[in-house]
Amino acid sequence: MSDERVLETSTNSEEKRQEVFLRPQNFSEYIGQRKVVQNIEVMVESAKIRKQAMDHVLLSGPPGLGKTSLAMIIANALDSHLHVISGPAIEKKGDLAAILTNLEDGDVLFIDEIHRMNIAVEEILYSAMEDYRLDILIGDGASARTMEIAISPFTLIGATTRSGLLSSPLRDRFMAHLHFDFYEHQDLATIVENNSKKLNIGLEGEAKNHIARCSRGTPRIANRILRRVRDFSIVDRKSTICEKAVAQALDLMEIDEFGLDRMDRKILEVIHDYYSGGPVGIEALCATLSEDRSTIEDVYEPFLLKEGFLIRTPRGREISEKTKKHLLRNT
Ligand SMILES: Nc1ncnc2c1ncn2[C@@H]1O[C@H](COP(=O)(O)OP(=O)(O)OP(=O)(O)O)[C@@H](O)[C@H]1O
Ligand SMILES: [Mg+2]
Repeated sequence: MSDERVLETSTNSEEKRQEVFLRPQNFSEYIGQRKVVQNIEVMVESAKIRKQAMDHVLLSGPPGLGKTSLAMIIANALDSHLHVISGPAIEKKGDLAAILTNLEDGDVLFIDEIHRMNIAVEEILYSAMEDYRLDILIGDGASARTMEIAISPFTLIGATTRSGLLSSPLRDRFMAHLHFDFYEHQDLATIVENNSKKLNIGLEGEAKNHIARCSRGTPRIANRILRRVRDFSIVDRKSTICEKAVAQALDLMEIDEFGLDRMDRKILEVIHDYYSGGPVGIEALCATLSEDRSTIEDVYEPFLLKEGFLIRTPRGREISEKTKKHLLRNT
């Protein structure tokens, strides 16, 4: 397998830099996800009128759909400082306690991958979220005491690709759970169009629709394809992106007409070739693919399930009739 997986929705550092450039800065630049945005706008407005911290909110959904971007927009709209941390990176209770005690009134704390936080560390959040208070245990045995430390009222925004893995005490402390769906074609096309302007390149004919169609309903992937196609056009000394350039780039990136990449197709092929189309248990499938279970479950499966290429049954994963047709057509 090559080092570059085009549709992998995680990011490297160069991409992070590019993402900052293409990131929507306010609600009007944030396309689609209307239900999520409407909920958030009311929460923001209410907090501003009450002059209190906004309620805690949990954002869940597959990678690259705009959870981090939305958290930044919320903090901006509230005129608050945003503190960004990654759940699994906080190793000790003391580290989280230090972050919480440093928050100022109304600040927004964004915890990414909150489902991967160490449970002992997570417990600190319970009283912090509920009563803006830390309960710190000092000493041990008979002389142990709990010390209460007040912290500033703040808003916790948790982001997760797997809300089902959150412990219930943590989940229950979020006022709102907002789920991100894959984007509609029209919204992706608008994102591609807006970002082509930011990148200072034009789009011809069906180019924008073609990119939108092959982006797996994911803005991060739409941006990635757009930047690659732009490179092709620049090398060809063109100031606009034509349909041929899109087709060339997608071909090189090994993305097919359904938006599936090499790894998607490999998953389907393995089930077809090694397990007679399934059902196959997730552990066996991951072992055959030499791939991490969470990568398969969080990054690849959601789209394959949504598009009906893959079916989940109590006995494991199966490929669908659509996949059989799709696979047979390409072999
Ligand atoms: N609603 C949107 N409108 C316009 N662009 C968007 C939108 N959502 C996401 N994007 C684009 O997609 C990129 C990736 O989004 P973001 O980093 O917010 O996703 P994420 O859900 O936090 O992903 P992860 O789960 O991997 O952290 C952004 O840099 C932005 O350019
Ligand atoms: Mg993110």
